[in-house]
Amino acid sequence: MGANRRMLRLGAFLIAPGYHVASWRHPTAHADGGTDFAHYRDLVRTAERGKFDMVFLSDGLGIRTPYRDEEELSRWGRFAQFEPLSLLSALAVSTDRIGLAATASTSYNEPFHLARQFASLDFLSGGRAGWNVVTSVTDAEARNFNRDTQLDHETRYHRAREFMDVVTGLWDSWEDDAFLYDKESGRFFDPAKLHILHHKGEHFSVRGPLNVARPPQGYPVLVQAGASPDGQDFAAQWAEVVFTANQRLDQSQAFYRGMKEQVAAHGRDAEQIKIMPGVFPVIGRTRAEAEDKYAVLQELVDPVVGLGLLTQLLGDVDISGYPLDGPLPELPATEGCTSRQQLVWDKARREGLTIKELYRSVSGGRGHRIIIGTPGDVADELEEWFTAGGADGFNVMPPVLPDGLDDFVDLVIPELQRRQLFRTEYEGGTLRENLGLDRPAHRAASSAPAGH
Ligand SMILES: Cc1cc2nc3c(=O)[nH]c(=O)nc-3n(C[C@H](O)[C@H](O)[C@H](O)COP(=O)(O)O)c2cc1C
Repeated sequence: MGANRRMLRLGAFLIAPGYHVASWRHPTAHADGGTDFAHYRDLVRTAERGKFDMVFLSDGLGIRTPYRDEEELSRWGRFAQFEPLSLLSALAVSTDRIGLAATASTSYNEPFHLARQFASLDFLSGGRAGWNVVTSVTDAEARNFNRDTQLDHETRYHRAREFMDVVTGLWDSWEDDAFLYDKESGRFFDPAKLHILHHKGEHFSVRGPLNVARPPQGYPVLVQAGASPDGQDFAAQWAEVVFTANQRLDQSQAFYRGMKEQVAAHGRDAEQIKIMPGVFPVIGRTRAEAEDKYAVLQELVDPVVGLGLLTQLLGDVDISGYPLDGPLPELPATEGCTSRQQLVWDKARREGLTIKELYRSVSGGRGHRIIIGTPGDVADELEEWFTAGGADGFNVMPPVLPDGLDDFVDLVIPELQRRQLFRTEYEGGTLRENLGLDRPAHRAASSAPAGH
């Protein structure tokens, strides 16, 4: 394998019992896997065996599914899930090399809490922590945090920016070699290497310092997935990994180019951001087997769930009054997930889908790209996107767990390795090293005060 060859980056999007909305009903699924530690431990070990860069845990602060009553809600599944940072802390001691990325919201946390928790995870895992920074998108979450509705889109991102200034400032409370532990002289740390933040801003007032040393990676790897103009600008300033949902190569290429340009406009090296579109692979030893697997899952989609999912993807716009066999109506603007609403809307129009056809089509990939085929087919498509400037890697969303991850690791990874597109051994000890990301210099040593 050529030392300088550009390699794919791979993340495993783990949500028990699978990414497909009906996965929990599948005969092989661990329907109760959401709070089964052994299930997650086995999944992460499988991903590590496959040399994935990282596993990724999504999160919401409550039940985000729109529902009219408990009967309707009871048909969804997947509501009993671990809190991601707790789960990753436990997984850190069951794994050695794989990165561990958790989602956490800037809208419903204090920066001090998250700075401390992610710094702790980075120590516990020996430098393998990642943080998917989200601003949260539903009123359902707001209602668990003393509000009836969420903050508007602009305010959420405004708060998120200040949040990042504070969190990174707290991670830089101590220079890397601040702690002396010098029993002879009685000096625990070098006072010249302590930097008290003294932050006073619009949303936060945080004195510091953080009561954790500078994390092994400097900062845990920062992941972001907002695709609105605000979200992209935020990612361009802060993110090192970007998750995105794109259906077509030309869309992905445009997003890729645009994001790299915005990163450069922020004075950053465009190589220091890895763009990883989501991909939902249904893998069979033959195409017919893959099609059958997909059909089994699609049959399991409850109409109540399908319609609810669509409502959610459209940013909580209520479409229940419209006939299922008719087209999607014109939609009002949303304070929720604007980018995904646009994507789903475009798909409906482009393919002339009825509401029912549309909810079926998004039940699997939920807006992400679906690949149904043999390991060779999957590798072909990943290779095409990777080499044609549409992606630096992929966030792999197995339809059902553990089978979908086993299939990817046992069948697709060897094919990617054979094509010299993916590593056969981890290059480094930290997530940053494996992703090819620089370790951020301490701000006292760096000339750039904001971002990195
Ligand atoms: C692959 C992927 C994973 C995401 N995971 C989460 C998540 O776990 N929790 C969350 O609140 N939002 C999640 N999001 C949503 C985005 O972080 C973002 O909040 C959303 O796209 C709305 O922002 P925007 O209006 O800037 O697009 C995810 C998005 C993508 C593409």
